[in-house]
Amino acid sequence: MCGIVGYIGEQDATSILLNGLKRLEYRGYDSAGVAVVNGGLTVKKRVGKVSVLDRVLQTEPVSGTVGIGHTRWATHGAPNDLNAHPHTDEDGEIALIHNGIIENYAALKKKLAADGYTFRSETDTEVLVVLIRAFYDELGDMAKAFRYALKQVVGAYGIAMVSAFDPNRLYVARNGSPLAIGIGDGEFIVASDASAIVQHTRQVVYLDDGEMAVIERDRYVTKRIDDDTTVDKEVEEVEFDLAEIEKGGYDHFMLKEIFEQPETIRNAMRGRLDSEASTVRLGGLMNVIDRLRDAQRLIIVGCGTSFHAGLVGEYLIEGLAGIPVEVEYASEFRYRDPIITKDDIVIAISQSGETSDTLAALREAKRRGAMTLGIVNVVGSSIARETDAGVYSHAGPEIGVASTKAFTSQLMVLALMAVKLARMKRMSASEGEAVLAALRELPEKVEYALSRHEQIQEIAKAYAQAPNFLYLGRGYNYPVALEGALKLKEISYIHAEGYPAAEMKHGPIALIDENMPVVFIAAQDGVYNKVVSNIEEVRARNGRVIAITNEGNQQIEGLAEHVIYVPETLPFLSPIINVLPLQLLSYYMAVERGCNVDQPRNLAKSVTVE
Ligand code: AGP
Repeated sequence: MCGIVGYIGEQDATSILLNGLKRLEYRGYDSAGVAVVNGGLTVKKRVGKVSVLDRVLQTEPVSGTVGIGHTRWATHGAPNDLNAHPHTDEDGEIALIHNGIIENYAALKKKLAADGYTFRSETDTEVLVVLIRAFYDELGDMAKAFRYALKQVVGAYGIAMVSAFDPNRLYVARNGSPLAIGIGDGEFIVASDASAIVQHTRQVVYLDDGEMAVIERDRYVTKRIDDDTTVDKEVEEVEFDLAEIEKGGYDHFMLKEIFEQPETIRNAMRGRLDSEASTVRLGGLMNVIDRLRDAQRLIIVGCGTSFHAGLVGEYLIEGLAGIPVEVEYASEFRYRDPIITKDDIVIAISQSGETSDTLAALREAKRRGAMTLGIVNVVGSSIARETDAGVYSHAGPEIGVASTKAFTSQLMVLALMAVKLARMKRMSASEGEAVLAALRELPEKVEYALSRHEQIQEIAKAYAQAPNFLYLGRGYNYPVALEGALKLKEISYIHAEGYPAAEMKHGPIALIDENMPVVFIAAQDGVYNKVVSNIEEVRARNGRVIAITNEGNQQIEGLAEHVIYVPETLPFLSPIINVLPLQLLSYYMAVERGCNVDQPRNLAKSVTVE
């Protein structure tokens, strides 16, 4: 949520900041702005996308070699020019950008106002920069002012600050919202994620919560905010390439990411299939695998799409390995005083590894003594670093706000975990061999399912104006129905509901008439005949059925208006294939409706606020 970028070096800061903002725009796109040190401080900011700011900077260029830039996802105050970041003190001598929420901003604002300080915006961020100014007025030392102000703040932040008082330094800090420092040659670029850094350098330092850094052109120092002690940070190497964060000829990142899935699924199992022992090898779980096998209960937490992956995980781990699993929205888990013992294992699933609710749930689980594991995509992210052990999903950078390839990679990791545990408990070697064979065939099957995109595009054209959609599935494919509905909602703004198919008759059936498209996931598994009965019930009420089923299943032709065929695989792997047409359907529907696929309204890629 909100993209932050900062630069200090010898090059033109504005163009570097703008490029960085373009890469970070998926984090928020309500407004954008930069502040550049040039004698004094020049701030340019506008409501709207980075392209609006770009045009402003072309007609009103700003030069300088130190600066900060921000792309906003609004929390406090409507998206407008005034509330856009950077924010400055009244005299415009200190500029700050912020990702997060300052919870005690009202109390701080009241006190500062009583001391004679004035405010222009409705944001919490402005309060922080004015507080820094107040400390600077008192102490005349910018590093101290920055740190003292942060010590008074309650809430989450990733921030960057520049000042006309201290023109050769860039200040950054982190508490709850990510912040990385890219180390170049005589220059530094800071950002809320590495996608804005990798063009300049692969060497990064990730700040941890409660840390700040003071950066000059040729050095930086990292410290603890509470006691000013210096912290030695490990320099890490960013793994991904620039090509991975570019569109590569596709119209949208989402489409590119959908079509990357044969490869990302291959990557999720690379080096993890152990043919000799007919099992799976998960290096990241090596030290905890016995504890996992003997666990009395696993609790999976996540949000949105990652939560849906967790639901599939429950079916997988209970079904294959016989270990009880509970799945919870991280946002509920963190506040509902859950009963957790030190015998429990809590698994956090997250693409970004930065989702605030998931991170908080993980910390709550740790606080209560549980062992914590992560299934995370972004290497080096907060959740990856804070869990006791875990497995990376290796989907590569996901830029489209709607999660696609990260979901199927999460499903892959969960399936691998379930197979690993099952082989340790009750799955025979020959069953293990069959599973490995099915896994190896999966990337090609995914490719084949995606090759049906033209048919799905036609279906999208036919239904693009539908105001509602229902998605129904059972067993392993019930969470797939939820995911299909979420995808449609978030990028095409069509109201959609996902349900376990049999639940339909307990309420949603009342919605069905000749205007209601109903997408059935009708995989030929143990519950197939039950799903067929549910299809009949919808047909009897003139609902318009779109069915996803396996190649060769002709029975369904007579029941559905549209049939989308996908290759057959083992039932527990079928969600990985069945979700693909749903991703494509939501994508083409959004395109038909003229929606901004990669940057849907009100959303942001990484939700780092509560
Ligand atoms: C998915 O399409 C959404 N954009 C959203 O639900 C997302 O999955 C959720 O915010 C969790 O994100 P995470 O996986 O990065 O934790």
